[in-house]
Amino acid sequence: MKQRLEDLLASGRESISAAGYESELQDVRVRLLGKKGELTAIMKGMGQLTAEERPVIGALANKVKEEIESLIADRQSVLKEAAIEGRLQSETIDVTLPGRRVKSGSKHPITLVTEEVTAIFASLGFGVEEGPEVEKDFYNFEALNIPKDHPARDMQDTFYIGDETVLRTHTSPVQIRTMLKYEPPVRVIAPGTVYRRDSDLTHSPMFHQVEGFLVDRDITFGDLKGILTTFINRYFGEGIGVRFRPSFFPFTEPSAEVDMQCVICGGSGCRVCKNSGWLEILGSGMIDPEVFRSVEYDSDKYSGFAFGMGLERIAMLKYGVNDLRLFFENDYRFLSQFA
Ligand code: PHE
Repeated sequence: MKQRLEDLLASGRESISAAGYESELQDVRVRLLGKKGELTAIMKGMGQLTAEERPVIGALANKVKEEIESLIADRQSVLKEAAIEGRLQSETIDVTLPGRRVKSGSKHPITLVTEEVTAIFASLGFGVEEGPEVEKDFYNFEALNIPKDHPARDMQDTFYIGDETVLRTHTSPVQIRTMLKYEPPVRVIAPGTVYRRDSDLTHSPMFHQVEGFLVDRDITFGDLKGILTTFINRYFGEGIGVRFRPSFFPFTEPSAEVDMQCVICGGSGCRVCKNSGWLEILGSGMIDPEVFRSVEYDSDKYSGFAFGMGLERIAMLKYGVNDLRLFFENDYRFLSQFA
């Protein structure tokens, strides 16, 4: 029995130091010292011992048991510490590593152009006004001298919300709202979203315009030319040629469409300007006395001019974008180029 007890201690010592986890150690304890464990099995032989042997073996068994328990306790604290050390290692934060960059967005090109155009007109003394996108027929058409049978009023061209309510087809209704609100002089631009029932490669049912108008005493077509030429040269380049072509709008008289020299080919002719060397960029004219009548401005005392331009078109020319749809697809690869 003495031999068996010594063997138990020797093999126990080995198993204990081999245990790599606390759970494994627990299993070793049960196997050695548990109720059905090896020590208990050996002790069953006590009955066969003589009266002299019994206390000697009993003392040895106790010693072996204590020894094993203390080995287990030591091993346990070693394993506990290793576990803590392991966690510290794996959860360590290296504060010297470079941080992860937060991807920041960028302004949409239409927003950029709106801001740039607004800034140029602000420097020329123009303030900013806004109007609703769901607009009364009166502001969108009637007060702008667009008669009931004008083709622009056709269901084919305009989104109707109700008999008297439309999605505004241009930013010109902001002229009416502003002139009803303020007495002259007024000098205002009005950027915003507009809607037309038009959708193909070069037309979107939703797009953006900037309206501008100025009313004061003694305003002439020369003022219109001066302001618009200044704008074009500031935005697209000092040397760029500008020309005014006679045109027609119900709310201006006389009216002119404004062309600038093609910024793509410099005027020599290319696909973008259809070989003409010129690009149409806005509509304009002297505000019609009929419009002044509807806002109760005295057209004997005051005169003014107005203009409107499409912002997508301006953005395409400014940034060399060749497909209108890019503005509305929100493709990150496109938008991130404006960061
Ligand atoms: N509202 C016109 C359009 O959408 C543009 C315009 C505005 C023309 C002001 C003349 C004066 O086409």
